[in-house]
Amino acid sequence: MAELLQQVHVDLGERSYGIQIGRGILDTLGQEFPGRSVLLVSDSRVDPLYGDRAEAALQAAGCKCVRVQVPEGEGSKCTAQLQRLWEAAVEARLDRKSLFVALGGGVVGDLCGFAAASYLRGVDFVQVPSSLLAMVDSSVGGKTGINLPQGKNLVGAFHQPKQVLIDLELLNTLSPREFSAGMAEVIKYGVIWDADLFRFLAEQVDAIRSLGADALATLVTRSCEIKAEVVRQDEREGGLRAILNFGHTLGHAVEKVCGYGTYLHGEAISIGMAYAARVSEQAKGFSGEERDRLDQLLQAYDLPLSWEGLDWEALWQAMCVDKKAAQEAPRFVLAEALGRVGLPEPCDRELLQDCFRAGI
Ligand code: GLY
Repeated sequence: MAELLQQVHVDLGERSYGIQIGRGILDTLGQEFPGRSVLLVSDSRVDPLYGDRAEAALQAAGCKCVRVQVPEGEGSKCTAQLQRLWEAAVEARLDRKSLFVALGGGVVGDLCGFAAASYLRGVDFVQVPSSLLAMVDSSVGGKTGINLPQGKNLVGAFHQPKQVLIDLELLNTLSPREFSAGMAEVIKYGVIWDADLFRFLAEQVDAIRSLGADALATLVTRSCEIKAEVVRQDEREGGLRAILNFGHTLGHAVEKVCGYGTYLHGEAISIGMAYAARVSEQAKGFSGEERDRLDQLLQAYDLPLSWEGLDWEALWQAMCVDKKAAQEAPRFVLAEALGRVGLPEPCDRELLQDCFRAGI
């Protein structure tokens, strides 16, 4: 039975939308869009689990549905799969009033969202995230795109969904490793915005790790509220939105240097946050006690912290060419205290290297 638990409003004027959070609410998919023609996009892991239910819900809402399945994994964020979606939409004669639905994790959401942003110069789309990372981060805020051989997310568009439908029961089929990786982004919200959330995550480790219903609803709702507020204030990343990149400067470099897929995104961000906390200690007076609390929380969710064995030169080069590095020096979001960070700022190579060498 579908049970709606919480709603979060993303307030963006005419691009506003609602995030529904509940249990079993996959079965309500399409109710806000009765009678629309739908391109339902999923991947080879999620489609066999939830594709039929999603299609049945859409049909019950009077929607005509065409299904496309892409291979699971980051490799599907590519021009070939994007073209497949466009062509499937043309073949099904989908017009400007049609609706694209992304049923899956961040890869499916980014790919399907960009297909929706570009097909016929833009059609509506709905996000149905199936991973914790997608629920708390990538499905909210309208960033869509694909990768190029030269780098990740190099082509994309801001295109807000019309609805984000979060069914917490979909987490039951997520691997523990993927769940932990999603927790890295939740912990990030605690550091950048909300010390109460940080405390909650520390107090409720057992309930959260065993997927306790109330604890999950609380952390997903709070994460979405924070993301919604940051995006409301700065939809196109002119300033504030960049604080969402806490831990991402080194994190992106770790992903690249180790080879994409070695670390999950959230795992690399965990290492990046542990490192950024140490840079914050040197540059911003972030306390050693709070740094220890962050380390302990990351460990409590089985996340990696250490960069031991990684090559500083390679990481430095990767940080310097990251598209978020602006010009010369890599920029870091630094914490002043738990719950409070500044905008990204360039950091001295020497300081960064010293923090790296000091290790964990
Ligand atoms: N994941 C960062 C952002 O949406 O801006």
